Amino acid sequence: MIKFSKFFSNLQETSWYRSFLNPVISEVRNNSTLLDIGTGSGKLIQILSNEKGVDCTGVDTNSDMLKEAKSKIKSNKIKLLEIEANKQLPFEDHSFNYVTICNVLFHLSNENIDLMLQDSKRLLKEDGKIIVLTPTGIGNIFTLTKYFFSLKNIGIFIWFYATRNRAAKWTKTNYLKEYSEKNKITYSSQIVMEGFAQLEVITV
Ligand SMILES: C[S@@+](CC[C@H](N)C(=O)[O-])C[C@H]1O[C@@H](n2cnc3c(N)ncnc32)[C@H](O)[C@@H]1O
Repeated sequence: MIKFSKFFSNLQETSWYRSFLNPVISEVRNNSTLLDIGTGSGKLIQILSNEKGVDCTGVDTNSDMLKEAKSKIKSNKIKLLEIEANKQLPFEDHSFNYVTICNVLFHLSNENIDLMLQDSKRLLKEDGKIIVLTPTGIGNIFTLTKYFFSLKNIGIFIWFYATRNRAAKWTKTNYLKEYSEKNKITYSSQIVMEGFAQLEVITV
């Protein structure tokens, strides 16, 4: 049976996955420094390193995902590291311009979200940004077909239905907006990818 990490890695090579990641890619400045938490098979950092000269580090708790990332990323400029969940990450304070967290936070408990955000704030340089990308869970088979149908994009239907319930809850509860208000930090959000994803940015 095909491993989930391999399946996910293949998913990341499709045009619809690039559409999902594009809003994050646009938000990141050329030649900056970036930490991607929950990097999975590493597509975002591969693109940012190749296309924008970004100095990228990817961390993940799953060794199979990191193996996929290593097999895909040939550049020795990109660092990959296996980490333990819910622990402070092994980097100095103020190391990065950006922390990206894509497709991850909406799977975690509130307590673990807060831990990850707290540590991300510690790791950011002045005016650094935490960029969070999450599916919205909004839409249906007709809108998916309208915008993304092609034989190569069949995986989007699996992704949509596998993430829909948790994603819709994340969209509805506005957790990051409330977190930012409580902590008096700047927050913005926009719906992207034809309504299928939300980009949230916290500036520290
Ligand atoms: C759905 S994948 C997303 C991969 C990639 N960020 C993307 O958007 O394509 C979620 C990843 O988050 C990782 N993950 C889950 N909890 C984590 C945690 N507490 N710290 C770091 N990575 C975590 C999982 O192992 C998995 O590889």
